[in-house]
Amino acid sequence: MKIRGAVLERFGQPLEVQELELAEPRAGEVLVRLVACGVCHTDLFTASGSDPSGYAPAVLGHEGAGVVEAVGEGVRDLAVGDHVVTLFSPQCRECEHCLDPRTNLCMAIREQQGLGHLPDGTTRLSRNGEPVRHFMGCSTFAEYTVMPEIALARVSPEAPLDRACLFACGLSTGLGAAMNTARVAAGSSCVVFGAGMVGLGAVAGCRLQGAERIVCVDLSEERLELARGQGATDLVVGGPDAVERVLELVGQLGADYTFEATGNVAVMRQAVESARMGWGLATVCGVAGKGEALEVVPRFLITGRRVAGSSFGGVKGRDQVPELVERWLGGEIDVEPFVSHSLSLDEVNRGFELMEAQDGIRSVIAFG
Ligand SMILES: NC(=O)c1ccc[n+]([C@@H]2O[C@H](COP(=O)([O-])OP(=O)(O)OC[C@H]3O[C@@H](n4cnc5c(N)ncnc54)[C@H](O)[C@@H]3O)[C@@H](O)[C@H]2O)c1
Ligand SMILES: [Zn+2]
Ligand SMILES: [Zn+2]
Repeated sequence: MKIRGAVLERFGQPLEVQELELAEPRAGEVLVRLVACGVCHTDLFTASGSDPSGYAPAVLGHEGAGVVEAVGEGVRDLAVGDHVVTLFSPQCRECEHCLDPRTNLCMAIREQQGLGHLPDGTTRLSRNGEPVRHFMGCSTFAEYTVMPEIALARVSPEAPLDRACLFACGLSTGLGAAMNTARVAAGSSCVVFGAGMVGLGAVAGCRLQGAERIVCVDLSEERLELARGQGATDLVVGGPDAVERVLELVGQLGADYTFEATGNVAVMRQAVESARMGWGLATVCGVAGKGEALEVVPRFLITGRRVAGSSFGGVKGRDQVPELVERWLGGEIDVEPFVSHSLSLDEVNRGFELMEAQDGIRSVIAFG
């Protein structure tokens, strides 16, 4: 079928919305009609050419939500009409990692996904007979996409898809960092560095876990106010003295749980240094620049602090994204403040500009 999609042609250049050919879903694959897709930093990171593993031409986008239009042979868990959220982090339910509760890093299709292929090593996207690659296994800056069944979470049909798409990446990452990776205990003290989509999700996750004190640190007063709306009890303007400010609030020994959601390695270090002596756990969510390293003085570790990393918040997508969506529908998570702009597919590059200007938390593309 003919579809329109936003193609990354050349790094550092605007995406080009073009007509493409999308082939039918093969075995284990599903055709999805996109209803909405968030514009995320990772799309921009790849478009700019900063991502060393990036490739072109490819259709970008990975924060999608839509409706199943057709299923390939052998698809068992999805049917035409189902509402789905796309998963750049799939869940096959069979590999060693899927069977282990300690990780969400499914191994089933990792290699081919990293190359921009569907699991059988080919693409469904093409242009004048030339293959166009898939991005993060999703390519959701497009009217339709074909994805493996294991990379789609079926969500309640009650969930508005122009909000549900946030659960495809940033929001679930933040929520999951607090709920799965750190497993924040009720009554504890938490510090979240960064109040973008991921950090605000982490604040909400800490609140849902029953944390007593939630300090949020960001450079923007406006974003700190959004953090208050998600349950932050204390707000700190970030900077070189952030650790001092935080310790004044949570006590000199540090906080039970800290989270980094900025991508800045200096802030990751602050997260480690703000974690409590004896048992504090610092969870790193941010993606650092190429070649950057996290510096930690070993004394902080010897005296009982621990560091964890979290990809997609440790969320096993097919099982847990529908649960998070239910908690949103039940009124426990407020996603409205996160959606700042609604754009058309043709305005996708405007989404990048808004992001660079830190104008709002998320722009969402609506497919009309
Ligand atoms: N681990 C994952 O699976 C995963 C998924 C999505 C995003 N990410 C990464 O998480 C990070 C956050 O993503 P986002 O979408 O929320 O980004 P964002 O840019 O919207 O938010 C980052 C926030 O950090 C704040 N900040 C910058 N410097 C700071 C400092 N010195 N002190 C305190 N705050 C500071 C900014 O003001 C901004 O509000 C990025 O690095 C992103 O690549 C990781
Ligand atoms: Zn993302
Ligand atoms: Zn798996």
